[in-house]
Amino acid sequence: MDNKNKKYDGANWNELEDQFTQFFYEQNLSQFWRPEDISLQSDLNVWNVLSEEIKLAYSKNLLVLTFLDTYQGDIGMPVVSRSIDDKFHQRKAVLNFMAAMENAVHAKSYSNIFMTFLNNDEINDLFVWGETSPILQKIVDLIVRYYRDLDVMNHEKKYETNVDETKFAEVQWKAMVASVFLETWLFYSGFYYPLYYYGQGKLMQAGEIINLILRDESIHGLYIGRLAQDIFEGFTETKKTELEAWMHNLLDKLYEQQGLLTAEIYDPVDLTHDVKIFNRYNCNKALMNLGFDAKFPYEEVNPVVLNGLNTETKTMDNFSMKGNGYQKMKSESLKDEDFIFDEE
Ligand SMILES: [Fe+2]
Ligand SMILES: [Fe+2]
Repeated sequence: MDNKNKKYDGANWNELEDQFTQFFYEQNLSQFWRPEDISLQSDLNVWNVLSEEIKLAYSKNLLVLTFLDTYQGDIGMPVVSRSIDDKFHQRKAVLNFMAAMENAVHAKSYSNIFMTFLNNDEINDLFVWGETSPILQKIVDLIVRYYRDLDVMNHEKKYETNVDETKFAEVQWKAMVASVFLETWLFYSGFYYPLYYYGQGKLMQAGEIINLILRDESIHGLYIGRLAQDIFEGFTETKKTELEAWMHNLLDKLYEQQGLLTAEIYDPVDLTHDVKIFNRYNCNKALMNLGFDAKFPYEEVNPVVLNGLNTETKTMDNFSMKGNGYQKMKSESLKDEDFIFDEE
């Protein structure tokens, strides 16, 4: 293996890089699904009788999710994957698999929902709203800028000598923080509304799609959070303090923008207060994925939404709603003990 002339090597899956990557590999592949596995037609009966305010809030949330998933797939996951040391081919494979899900499956699913619920003019108006919303643009920018920084560093590391390893690790860690903030926190203001309906037994097929997506996002945030924690451990105490302050600064900026976006979307349906609680709840989870303490005190999340989140409480047979692909979706829910790995 330590051949000095070695320039390229192949992924050897006969030798595991580490236990947690193997676990996430298995979990990701067992969770694989396709947007067309779920037919949305039966939701139309409910959709058609909803008020315009509700339809607009629902659609705008899915549009926000579309934008976030688009950039997570186009740049976020790929640059994080490329930043991983060349010797970790399996880690890269897991990240590449996640990258493929973001846009090709998640963003595509939102488009399928739009196609079923809305006409072409409404879809176009919705995308124009997102493209011209200063708040949404700002949120995407606050995340994507750290992906771009890492993209530049990846290039420098590949083609230039004397790249400062600590600087590289710092930029890499920051991109991972942005990624976990997006996966485990920012998505959830958008998930709230579909879950709110799903928890009441309404718009079940769209809610099913959201549940499949958030099941994916949940392991994405855990995996990148784990990689980020390993990098963070390598920093000096001074650097750790500096980086933690940077992280809280980014958090504050995102929290402010997410609050504004939540008010814009949810004020017309009187749910802003509840959604903001859910935002804080998920922000705490993102911090914990990154190895930090929760920032916000415990608050009770709307039980209807928790009901929408918890697939085990459903009385219906979830699998019967899915198409031919359902065999691929047999997958166990994660438990806390799944995340105890032997030290390498
Ligand atoms: Fe995604
Ligand atoms: Fe994701």
